[in-house]
Amino acid sequence: MIITNSLGSNYTSGDRILALKLLFQPWKWKQGKELETLKSVIPAKVGIYLNRFRVKPGMTVELFLKGRHAIYEALRKLGIGQDDEVIVQAFTCVAVVQPILDLGATPIYVDVDTKNLNPSFEQIKKSATSKTKAIILQHTLGYINRENDEIVKWCRNHKIFIIQDLAHFFIPTPKPTTNNQQLIASANAIILSFSQDKVIDGVSGGALIASKILPLPEKLNDSNHLILIEIGKHLLYPICTWLIRSTYQIGIGKFRVGKVIHWLAKFFGLMNSPVDAPTTPTALPNALAALTFNQLVRLDKIIVHRRNIALTYGRILNRKFKLVIIDDIKNGSNLRYPIWVGNRDELEKKLTRHGFYLMDHWYDAPVSPERVSDSQVKYQPGSCPNTENLSEHIFNLPTHISISNEKAECLAKLINQ
Ligand SMILES: Cc1ncc(COP(=O)(O)O)c(C=O)c1O
Repeated sequence: MIITNSLGSNYTSGDRILALKLLFQPWKWKQGKELETLKSVIPAKVGIYLNRFRVKPGMTVELFLKGRHAIYEALRKLGIGQDDEVIVQAFTCVAVVQPILDLGATPIYVDVDTKNLNPSFEQIKKSATSKTKAIILQHTLGYINRENDEIVKWCRNHKIFIIQDLAHFFIPTPKPTTNNQQLIASANAIILSFSQDKVIDGVSGGALIASKILPLPEKLNDSNHLILIEIGKHLLYPICTWLIRSTYQIGIGKFRVGKVIHWLAKFFGLMNSPVDAPTTPTALPNALAALTFNQLVRLDKIIVHRRNIALTYGRILNRKFKLVIIDDIKNGSNLRYPIWVGNRDELEKKLTRHGFYLMDHWYDAPVSPERVSDSQVKYQPGSCPNTENLSEHIFNLPTHISISNEKAECLAKLINQ
């Protein structure tokens, strides 16, 4: 089995069997009890122990087909619209920015700190104006913003709504640190993503956890307009990706069975880029809630594994590559282990020769993916120089369940060479 960062690396055989079973139970695809089950476990799983951490009472959980739908709904319910400004960091995904644009508001990009994945408090303060209504705080690749507490306090004092985007960051321990408490307790809305290659990967999914400050949710479009074929394609993804990875080494010369299956899967629309999904809020179909729940029950195990792998990289890799420190790893969910590389192409070629197919440059632009035009997302080229530099040098190492400690050690040593 080859090592990749993506291509269904998060699924166990249990996840694949469940997907296969669901494929033959189409009556469970749209509606079913798994939706309620998932909803009911989310607060505890993400560390929102209501009384203990004084989260505003009346928190509600809504499930969506995508994390970006949850962002859209959070902004909409907070009343964000025309002429409002929303602070986001550069070094982000178009999925974060598009909901802001769709609501007619303006994203204000804040540069990340030098060789850091998140922006500094100082930069955030400078970017706020009288039009700033909200901030989306993203904790890139599962590493909490080191100044989260200060940022949160300042936003509260300045009546700026706080949306904690935890698409990459799942609370890693049952006993959250002070930072984690602030993350949850002071948010007006919390976003989760269960989409491909996230900490919890149910192929596609998202959640909005919102406090009472938001008006009561209106009835959401259900997933009825999601044609059954689309749900079927999502269910095939864990199986298809497994087939591709397990047959990639089989073949003669440049001909690889896995490559052919990959091509066929793309041809039949089974491997559409998740980045291109629309922002119109859509409810989560029951079948994907079932896949998500199946992973969520193993969250602690997943987090411990990711942390151990990241610690292994941190122990072995030369200092010049490092972007995160030990504390980041211990407090984070370590969605990837990012490093700074001078020449990515050269490194990738070398790693491929050793069976590591790693081409992960998440994020490859201030507003990723690179093919998104700056004008479309209202990004001013040159305005976030640290981010532009980082996006040319970042290279992410895998921390998912398919990479063992031995493989991680081998990978780190290869990189050091
Ligand atoms: C920081 C962040 N937030 C939110 C999202 C949106 O997640 P989804 O793909 O589930 O819409 C992404 C997508 O990668 C992301 O990187």
